[in-house]
Amino acid sequence: MSAKGDGVILITGGAGYIGSHANKELTKRGYSTMVIDNFHYGHEEFLKWGKSVKGDLADTTLLRQIFRDHPIRAVMHFAAYAYVGESVKEPQKYYLNNVRNTLNLLEIMFENDVRNFIFSSTCAVYGEPGKVPITEDMEFRPVSPYGETKAVVEGVLKDYSAAYGLKYVSLRYFNAAGADPDCEVGEWHEPETHLIPLVLDTALGRREQIEIFGTDYDTPDGTCVRDYVHVSDLAAAHVLALEHLMSGGASDVFNLGSGTGASVKEVIDKARAITGAEIKAVESERRPGDPPALVASNDKITRKLGWKPGGSDISHIIETAWDWHRRMYDEYRK
Ligand code: UFG
Repeated sequence: MSAKGDGVILITGGAGYIGSHANKELTKRGYSTMVIDNFHYGHEEFLKWGKSVKGDLADTTLLRQIFRDHPIRAVMHFAAYAYVGESVKEPQKYYLNNVRNTLNLLEIMFENDVRNFIFSSTCAVYGEPGKVPITEDMEFRPVSPYGETKAVVEGVLKDYSAAYGLKYVSLRYFNAAGADPDCEVGEWHEPETHLIPLVLDTALGRREQIEIFGTDYDTPDGTCVRDYVHVSDLAAAHVLALEHLMSGGASDVFNLGSGTGASVKEVIDKARAITGAEIKAVESERRPGDPPALVASNDKITRKLGWKPGGSDISHIIETAWDWHRRMYDEYRK
């Protein structure tokens, strides 16, 4: 039993990048947690707080056992595949894991009368919106199976909420970045496809150069603009969303972004200043499916939940990512 009332918060994918930061934040705030992770992409090294079980959400026997043996009070559902390119090549993998397994989880929650659910959604549900900042009422037009799986689940949540009294908050992440300032957890993807860790690999000499995907976009410097939001700010938003639901708040959806954009070139320049490394960059072709600019309006979550993206300044993001990145190779990826 925890200091913050009875019961346990179940964190699916709690050994992954964002789930592990949420586990830390929940624990810090006095909640008891339980992680379920299959370690396909998560890391056992990130099981630093609460209880954990190794398992897959396709395993309904295991899920039923977890709900039978533990007083689960709410679920934070991070477990999902999230490689946009892979989702185009292997959509079935994405629909089975991201959609079917979420349906399993919701079914077993209902069997156990657990109704509070925090869902990891994504700005990819908006596809290539014509304008920024993006507000929550904008149309869903995902351009990848990955984005489609998240949009489908958002539809399920809305319907289940109306019919079965599910209470949910869907959080549409923009570009999660940075790392725990204490360096206990951080970004560790294998394979890595994201800009900031690849830039830092270049700074460390682990890559020869970073490719800039497209320099002819209709943006101030011609490179893509993204809204980088610190992973610890994301984690804090999950706790606010949980407390909103547990204190009787209504189901809702929120963008989770810093509200400001940084271009690929700006990220590289900032990383050069922070690391002191040259970081060779070469101009390359556009990556298919990349919209020119994605920036969140975060008015809704700041207004309704009192969230502040206090750590999401791009310098702080890259500084914490850099500290973690070196630590990761020293301690974990030898
Ligand atoms: N980029 C490069 N070179 C690289 C890697 C990335 O120029 O080697 C550029 C991309 O073209 C993009 C920006 O850096 O403009 C950021 O790319 P990331 O791959 O880091 O992140 P994305 O914006 O593609 O992806 C994020 C989330 C996904 C989500 C997607 C929706 O990580 O989960 O936004 O567009 F689906």
